[in-house]
This record gives sequence, structure tokens and C-alpha cells, in this order.
Amino acid sequence: MSGQRLALVLGFVALASGARAETEPFPSGDMMTVGVYYYPEAWPRDQWARDLANIKRHGFEFVHMAEFAWAFMEPEEGKFDFEWLDTNVRLAAEQGLKVVLCTPSATPPAWLARKHPEILMVDARGRRMNHGSREHATWSSPVYRRYVERVVGEMGRRYGTNPAVWGWQIDNEVSHYGRGYSYADVDRDRFRAWLKARYGDVGRLNQAWGNAFWSQMYGDFGQIDIPNPEELVAGPNEHALLDFQRFFAEETADYIRFQAQALRKSTQRQWITTNFMHLHKEVYPPLSGKDLDIVTWTLYPAHGNLGQGPLGFRLGDGVAISFMGDFARAISGRHGLMELQPGQVNWGAVNPNPYPGAVRNWILRAFALGAKVLCTYRYRQPLFGNEQYHHGIVGTDGVTLSRGGEEWVQAMREIRLLRQNRPADPKEPARYAARRTGFLYNVDNRFDIDNHTQTVRWDTMGHLLKYHRALKGAGAPVDVITEDKDFARYPFLVAPAYQLVDPDLVARWRRYVEAGGHLIVSIRTGTKDRMGHLWEGPWAAPILELIGATVRLYDVLPEPHVGKVESAVSGKTYDWTVWAEALAPKAGTSVLARHSDQFYKGEPAAVTRALGKGTVTYVGVETLSGDLEKEIVRKVLTGAGVALEDYPDQLLVDWRDGFWLASNFSSSEQKAPLPPGVTPLVGGRQLPPAGVAIWKE
Ligand code: GAL
Repeated sequence: MSGQRLALVLGFVALASGARAETEPFPSGDMMTVGVYYYPEAWPRDQWARDLANIKRHGFEFVHMAEFAWAFMEPEEGKFDFEWLDTNVRLAAEQGLKVVLCTPSATPPAWLARKHPEILMVDARGRRMNHGSREHATWSSPVYRRYVERVVGEMGRRYGTNPAVWGWQIDNEVSHYGRGYSYADVDRDRFRAWLKARYGDVGRLNQAWGNAFWSQMYGDFGQIDIPNPEELVAGPNEHALLDFQRFFAEETADYIRFQAQALRKSTQRQWITTNFMHLHKEVYPPLSGKDLDIVTWTLYPAHGNLGQGPLGFRLGDGVAISFMGDFARAISGRHGLMELQPGQVNWGAVNPNPYPGAVRNWILRAFALGAKVLCTYRYRQPLFGNEQYHHGIVGTDGVTLSRGGEEWVQAMREIRLLRQNRPADPKEPARYAARRTGFLYNVDNRFDIDNHTQTVRWDTMGHLLKYHRALKGAGAPVDVITEDKDFARYPFLVAPAYQLVDPDLVARWRRYVEAGGHLIVSIRTGTKDRMGHLWEGPWAAPILELIGATVRLYDVLPEPHVGKVESAVSGKTYDWTVWAEALAPKAGTSVLARHSDQFYKGEPAAVTRALGKGTVTYVGVETLSGDLEKEIVRKVLTGAGVALEDYPDQLLVDWRDGFWLASNFSSSEQKAPLPPGVTPLVGGRQLPPAGVAIWKE
């Protein structure tokens, strides 16, 4: 095949798989390339060469620079200084390190905030945020965007064709962190324009927002403000809130696109990403899937959260980590972690030491999740500033490896070992592929449910993770997918608490099942339309036919009450507290669990039915332990003739590029599921907490 023709074919394959066509910047031989953040502008010039040499010597392959450095790049308006960055890019290249550059928009300089205070975000209480921290500008401000475009353009022109520069990160964890949303006039104006484009006519908006309720009618778009709970005497209008949440997510995606386009004017053969926060609700990564060459995210598993089990606060929650990886990977097939905790952090309520080995466990789990790029935050522990207690790869002396740093060095050595042992043509094991599950996720459901939980005990992500845990325990590869994906790729499809539906989605579910798919849905699914209105009809009207049952009632329990359901699968009884429904099955639908108390004792709580060549299962209760959900998931998978694993909780086992990886996030010793006679490449048969085993079959 001629070179030109081969390039055409490769380009087509890349396009068909949804990837950007012009570059293949991730050498497949590397599987996962590992790097570290470095802030040269914060360290003495005479230490740069030493630090970069040490970064290389420790085994890192790229260095991430220029994030937050706007005041150094443009110390005065329109006066640019890149000498310091040129020097560092050159020093890095001399070491053989690739460079990832970051646009500095998260930290506009003081001169900009003073000259144009209107770029600053306004919090829900109407307070304008000030210079002195980060993410304090609103990207709805055209003035701010103008300045961002200029500095990003300067960077692009300077480094866009520099072969030492491998890729780019846009901004940093685009968000307003704990301040949530910006309520400045510019945000309101952009929101109004968004609404106008969406509804055209204010009458349609009045209907969509249910403004007949409490006389909330608007006469024109100019009367509409951002729904701000701080300004409202009684509860906000949930439909208005839902639209505002959608607007903000789209506006953020628009801002990411805007920066990507500004860069692409001058970059060649360099990839572009932004680093999304782990399941941060306000920003929605799938909206940026087409604008980025790779989706990356940030992960800090141990920051005072309790996790699972007595050591969970030091180990992190393997299931929650998995969910985010399975989500980011499925967006465009390419993902990485742009920040991974190196050791103790500073920003949680309590910031404990990670368990010995935990950092290495996270690194190798990132590999198991399919990450192509992995970067740790940060090389040096800062001596000043807000993150003084944040560990780095090296400690406060700038040269001695921290405990976490030593684990990075070890894990990078292990990744090199895997590269050397990589099978030439790895084939995904058939028994693993047979369990592949699509996990349908739409942040709109999370917005709407969280706006209207009905019980303070409700936790949307907690509900979803019970299903994810069940699937991972069965050894299933999971893709957390959005509705634009083809369901038919998955023998199993799980859509827990999928509250907002439309007839088209339900029809797709039906076709999927009739063709042989196995669908599991749970409580609250299908109860509202896409604007969050209840249906004029029976509860959950559009899905009743599909699930072969009606929902007679839904219930929630105040503390300290606990309800009980009995599983028809195992005969075991489980507690519930959050939400339960009493179901009335139609002929042909069988019962998987029944209520054993409350005034609806004896009524079904979970049902299943065959439909066409597949099955539909409806789980009408959330149990406290998640064990009924686990039983039901397992029953559906085994019922479809698939052989399952039975891994203990928090033992995560996945396959990637010809390797099996078992990671122990539980607080007790576990056995790696190694086939007899196989010697692991990394680790052993017995896995202590935070232990990892990697083997080839
Ligand atoms: C991340 C953030 C970094 C740094 C880090 C500290 O969320 O993106 O800039 O602040 O936390 O753990």
C-alpha cells in the first residue's frame, strides 16, 4: 500500500473511531506515558536544570508546566515574557522529557482583575470574588475571553510547532470550586441568550418551567434571572434550575472549545486536553469529547473521605475510582489522569497519610483503567502558598524522594517491565468480554434528582455505585456511556435511577432488549420527562409496558426507621432506608424480591421479565448494603449464560493490553485470582491491603 493510501486509511479509521484524524500522539508502545507537574516560575532559576534532571532520573517521561503562570507570561498587559518557559522547555528536551504545557487562564493576573473587575465571578450571595486565589473569573465574560484568547494565542504561536512540546492542557479543573456557579450580569446575559435560542418564545419557556405554579410567568426573556437559591424565599423552580445547570455545563464546554480552537490555530501534531475533576457535577466531560484529543481527569483518593472498611480513608474507594475511569474512557476511547495524588494532600477537612503502597496501587489501577497518560501532582512540595502541606514527589529540600515519590519510582519501573513483556497481539479474553456492560449515565438525571431528592438520605452517586460495585465484583468490564452511544455493543445495559426519559429512549431500550440485550433499571427511572415534569398518567408511565409492572407507590423512611425486603433469589432479607417502591407485576413478569414489612408487606419490590430475545429487570428498592442489587445483577448476568467471578468487595480485577491487574482496595488480605501455575510479573498471590498483582495468561 502506498504511503499516501495508508495515511488515508489510517485517517479514516481514526475518524470512524471518533478520534481526531490529524495526529496519533500516543505512541502505542508506551501504553501509558507518565509525567509530573513542575512550576519553574516558583523555584530559583539555578535549580531548574537540577530539578528537570532529577525528574528524568526518577523515571518520569514528561513534565507539565506553565499552569497558573499568567503573571509570568504577561507581567504587564500586552508585554509577554516567555524566556523562562523557553529555557525550561529546552532544559526538559535536553533531558529527553516530553513537555505538556498548560494555558494559564485559571489565574488571571492582578492587573487584569484591577483593570476589568467585571471579569470576576459573583457568588450566589452576590459577592464579587477577588484576585488572590484561582478560578475567580467567569468565562461568560467576553472581556475575559479576549484576554484569554490573546495569551493562549501567544503560547500557541510560540510552542505550537516545537517538537519538544507533546501536548496541551486547557485551564485547570475548569470550575468555580466550592463557589459552584457564577451569578454575574454577564452570566445572566449569556443564560438569557441560551434560553432564547432554546425556546424562541417566552411562552414555551413558561410552559417548560411550569411557571403557572406560584405565578412565576415571564413576559419576556429580559425578565429572567439566574435561579439563585440564596435569593428565593421558598424553594427554587426546579425546571429553571435544571436549565441553568445545563446552560452552565454547556457554557463551560463552550469555553473549553474556545481555548482549544485558539490553540489549534497554531499547533501541529500536539494533543489537547483539559483536566476534569472526578465526578464534579457542574461540568460535564462528554460535552467536550469532540473538542479534545484525549479526556483527562484528576484523582485524589485519600483526602479524609472514609472509603470502604477500616483502612478505606488511607486506601481510597476502588469502585468510585473505577467508575470515573470507566466514564472518562468511554467518552472518546482515549483517556488519562492528569493529576494523581502523590501522597498526603492539604485541602480535605482532614488529610491523612495514604496507606503504604496505596499510591502505587492508584498508579497501577490507572493503568488497568486504560489510561494513556498519567501525571502526578506535583514534583516539589511547595514551601509557600495555599498548598504547603501538599506532598510532592520530592520533599521540602527539593531533592529527597517522599514516601509517595518512592512509590511512583517503583510503579514507573513496573510499567517499564510491562512494556517489555507486552504481548504482540493481545486478545481480550472471551469470558471477560462476555460480561461487558454499558452503564448509562446522564448528568441531567443527577441534576434533577439532586434538586428534588424527596429524602435527605438520598445520594445519587451512592445509588449508582451500588450497581458499579456489583458489576465489578462479577468481573465485568464496564463502560459508563451516554445516550449517543450504541447500546447494541453491550450484552448488558444498566441504567440506575434514570429519572428523565423520552419516548424515543424507551423505544431504544425496547429494541435493545428485543434484539437480545439485558436491561436493568432501578427506582425513579422514567418518572419524568426531559424537563423534569411528571407524566400525565400513571407513575413512570412510559416504562411500565417495558418493565411489565406498575409502580403502586414509592416510599422513603425517616431516621431511624429501616424497612426490610426479602430476596426471592436467595431467601435473604435486606434493610433499606433511602427509597422503595411497591410494584404490581403483570402476567409474565416474575418477582425477584418482596417487602417484608411496612403497610405494603408482601408486595413486590423487584421484578424481571423476558422480552423478545432479551430481559428487562426493574429493581424497585435501594438496599442499605447494596447486596440485593448485587444478587440481582448477578442473576441477570448468569441467566444470560455468562460465567461470573465473585471478587470480594474492593478487589478490582481488569484486563488491559494483554495483562490482568488485581488491585486490593479492601482493608484485609485478599487472594489474587491467578490461574494455577501462572507467576505474576508484579506482586504475588497474596495481596495485602493496597497490594497489586499483574500477570499474563
Ligand atoms: C487539584 C488542582 C491542583 C492542585 C491539587 C492539589 O484539584 O487541580 O491545581 O490544587 O488539587 O491536590
